[in-house]
Parts: sequence; C-alpha cells; structure tokens
Amino acid sequence: MVSFLIRHATLDDLNAIVQLDQGSNPHPWNASLIEEALMSRANWVIEATLDADDTIAQKNETALLGWLTASLLFEQSELELIVVDRAQRRQGFAKQLLSAWTEEMASKGVVEYLLEVRESNLGAIQLYRSLGFEEVGRRKNYYVTDQGKEAACLFTLSV
Ligand SMILES: CC(C)(COP(=O)(O)OP(=O)(O)OC[C@H]1O[C@@H](n2cnc3c(N)ncnc32)[C@H](O)[C@@H]1OP(=O)(O)O)[C@@H](O)C(=O)NCCC(=O)NCCS
Repeated sequence: MVSFLIRHATLDDLNAIVQLDQGSNPHPWNASLIEEALMSRANWVIEATLDADDTIAQKNETALLGWLTASLLFEQSELELIVVDRAQRRQGFAKQLLSAWTEEMASKGVVEYLLEVRESNLGAIQLYRSLGFEEVGRRKNYYVTDQGKEAACLFTLSV
C-alpha cells in the first residue's frame, strides 16, 4: 500500500528535485537555479511513503514524485515550475500540488495567481484551465524550441 504526502521542500531535497526535473521536465532547470528557487521561493513536493513492498520506492530512490515552485509578491503569486515524475502522471498529483500552492498563498492574502506556459504544452494548459485559469495574453517567440521559437501563454486566476 502506497500513500502520498505533500510538504514544503527544503534544501535537503535539492538532489532529488534535480534528478526529478532532469528525468521528467522536457526543459530542465540547472541545479543552481533549483537551489536558488529552494532558497528564495515557496516550494512543495509530493512524495511516496516508503512501505517495504512499495514498487514506487524501489524504482525511485528518493520517492519524490513532484515539485512546485512559486514566487510571492504582495497579493500575487506566480507559478515558476511544476513537474511530476513521467511515470506517475494522470493520478492528480499536479492538481494536489497546485491546490497546496493556492491554499497556502490565499492564507497569506494572495488574490491573483499567474503563470506562463509554452503554447505547445497542451496537457499543462488543460490542467490549468481545469482549475479555472484563464488565458489573458501571449508573448510571441518567447521560448526556444528545437525547431525555432514558440509563444508563451499567460494565464491568471483571480479569487
Ligand atoms: C503538466 C504536469 C505537471 C501534469 O502533471 P499530472 O500529475 O500528470 O497532472 P494531473 O494528474 O494532476 O492532471 C489533472 C488534469 O489535468 C489535465 N491533464 C494533465 N496532463 C494532461 C495531458 N498530458 N493531456 C491532457 N490533459 C492533461 C487533465 O484534465 C487531468 O485530469 P484527468 O487525468 O482526470 O483527465 C506533467 O505532465 C509534467 O510534469 N509535465 C512536464 C513539466 C511541465 O510541462 N510543467 C508545466 C510547465 S508550465
């Protein structure tokens, strides 16, 4: 039996997050950027608890399945990155991380949530729309791709 826990991330999670991001983010961050995020932003991870016969734990030493990092600026909070282990998707982990983010930020007085996403990232866009985020603009040629460039879609959620 596997159970899952969402908690704040700390610098002790750095190596596991770097490993997760490199294996599951098509555009991984470098370790120093992740370290900076852990020191200066709000961070949550979702992890599997380690039962003896836990197949997830056997496959993934850290048992860390997802990470979300966000910045806080007065009444706004911006999602900087969310990533879920490639092998553990479509189980609601991203939704749970996003809920942890918005619930805690609401308790700090946040009334608007912001994020940017590549226009080709249709899965993430579907996820954000399912939570009530609305597209409010696009930045053309914002991200580099293998083929050239693509737009960033700007989404907000006001509460
Ligand atoms: C985007 C990402 C975080 C989603 O993680 P996840 O844990 O699989 O998402 P969830 O299981 O919480 O999905 C919740 C809902 O979002 C939507 N969704 C998520 N991924 C989707 C996909 N690939 N295609 C279509 N809809 C998707 C669905 O509505 C889904 O509900 P359903 O499974 O009942 O249909 C994950 O795919 C990922 O890490 N991608 C790489 C990093 C990335 O692109 N991050 C976003 C950068 S802005």
